Amino acid sequence: MILKAESVGRRFFRKRNGSNFFYAVQDVALTLRSGQLVALFGRSGSGKSTLLNMLSGLLAPSDGCVLLDNTNLYQMEDGALSQFRNEHFGVIPQGQAALQSLTVLENVLLPCTLFHDSTPQTEARAMALLEQTGIGDLRDVRPSELSGGEMRRMAIARSLIRNPDVILADEPTADLDDENTKVVLKLLKTVAEQGKIVFIATHDKDTFDYADAVYHMDAGKIKKEE
Ligand SMILES: Nc1ncnc2c1ncn2[C@@H]1O[C@H](COP(=O)(O)OP(=O)(O)OP(=O)(O)O)[C@@H](O)[C@H]1O
Ligand SMILES: [Mg+2]
Repeated sequence: MILKAESVGRRFFRKRNGSNFFYAVQDVALTLRSGQLVALFGRSGSGKSTLLNMLSGLLAPSDGCVLLDNTNLYQMEDGALSQFRNEHFGVIPQGQAALQSLTVLENVLLPCTLFHDSTPQTEARAMALLEQTGIGDLRDVRPSELSGGEMRRMAIARSLIRNPDVILADEPTADLDDENTKVVLKLLKTVAEQGKIVFIATHDKDTFDYADAVYHMDAGKIKKEE
C-alpha cells in the first residue's frame, strides 16, 4: 500500500509576524510504502504532530490531500472516515492516551469495542500483542500503575489490535530509557518488515538506526535526508 501526502498544508489561526494565521505545515509531499519504517525529525513546534495527524485522518489539511492507495481521506463523510481509519490506521499518539478506568487489556481492546468487534478471537489477539510487547502479565492492571515504558508498549499493542496497514507513531520513545527505547523501536521495525507502513515522528536519534528513510521538518517544511 501507499500513503501519500500531496502538497499538504495546514493553517492555524494565531497572530504571528503581523498576520492572523500561520502555516504549521506547508506544501508537504511525502510517499510512504508498505515494508518501510520512515522517521521524521524536527525540533519542537516544527509541525511533526500536525503532519502526522493529517496523515492519520484526524486533522483535515487546509491545502492538498492525503491518499491511502486510491482513497482520498478527506473526501469521505465523517462516519465513513472513522470507519476507514479504524480499519487501516493504528495511531500511537504523543503523550499519554490510556483510559484510566480500563485495565491494560481493555485499553488494548478499545478500538474493537468501539466498533463492536469484541470476540474471543480479538481478545486472544490482544493477549498475543501484550505478550509480544512483554507486558502480558500486566493485563489486569490499571494504566496508573504502569511505568512509562510499559504504558508506551500498551499504546503500541492498542495501535496494532486491528491489524492496520499503517502505523503512525508520535514520539513513541520519548521519556524511555535505552532498553525500552530499543524494545519499542525493534517492535515497530518488525511491524514494518511484516509489510506495514510505519511512520515515526521523533527527537530520538536512536530511531536513525532503524529507519529506511529519514525526513527533517523545519518550520512546517519537509526535506528528505539523502
Ligand atoms: N490547534 C492549533 N491551533 C493553533 N496552533 C497550533 C495548533 N496545533 C498546533 N499549533 C502550532 O503549530 C506548530 C506545530 O505544532 P506541532 O504540534 O505540529 O509541532 P511538533 O513538531 O509536533 O512539536 P513537538 O516536537 O513539541 O511535539 C506549533 O507552533 C504549535 O503551537
Ligand atoms: Mg509533536
